[in-house]
Amino acid sequence: MHAIPSKDKRISRRSFLSWLLKGSLAASGLLGVAALGRFLSFQGQSSQPTEYDLGPALDYPSDSRTAIPEIPAMIIHNQAGFTAISLVCPHLGCTVNVTSEGFTCPCHGSRFLADGSLRNGPASKALTSMRAEVDAAGHLIVSTA
Ligand code: FES
Repeated sequence: MHAIPSKDKRISRRSFLSWLLKGSLAASGLLGVAALGRFLSFQGQSSQPTEYDLGPALDYPSDSRTAIPEIPAMIIHNQAGFTAISLVCPHLGCTVNVTSEGFTCPCHGSRFLADGSLRNGPASKALTSMRAEVDAAGHLIVSTA
C-alpha cells in the first residue's frame, strides 16, 4: 500500500514562529508610536493662579492675621494696611506652620518671626512678601507674582 500525499494545511513551526515574531514587533511598534504621541502631546498641569480674590476686605478686621491655606499665605491687617506673607519655606518649599511667635518649618526647622523675617535656618532668607491690595469693589486681592 502506498500513502497518498495529502495537502497539509498545517502551519509549520518555522512559519508560526516567524508570524509570531512579526506580530510582536508590529504590536510593540504601535505601542511605541502611541507612547511617543502621548509624550509629545503632554501638557503640564495648568499653572496656579497668581492672583486671588479673598472677598470683602472688611472681612479682615484691623490687627488680624488670617491664614489662607489655598495660596498658602498669611494675611496681616494692621495700621499700615494689608500685607501678605507666603507660607512656603524659602529653604526647600515646605509649608510653614503658624506658631505664637511666628512660623516654623516642619521639614528642617527653620523659624521665622511674625513679620516673616528669618530667625534661624537652614533657610537663608525671610518668607516672601506678596502684594495685597483692596480693589475698587472693596475686595482684598493678593498677588503671588
Ligand atoms: S524646607 Fe523649610 S527648613 Fe527646609
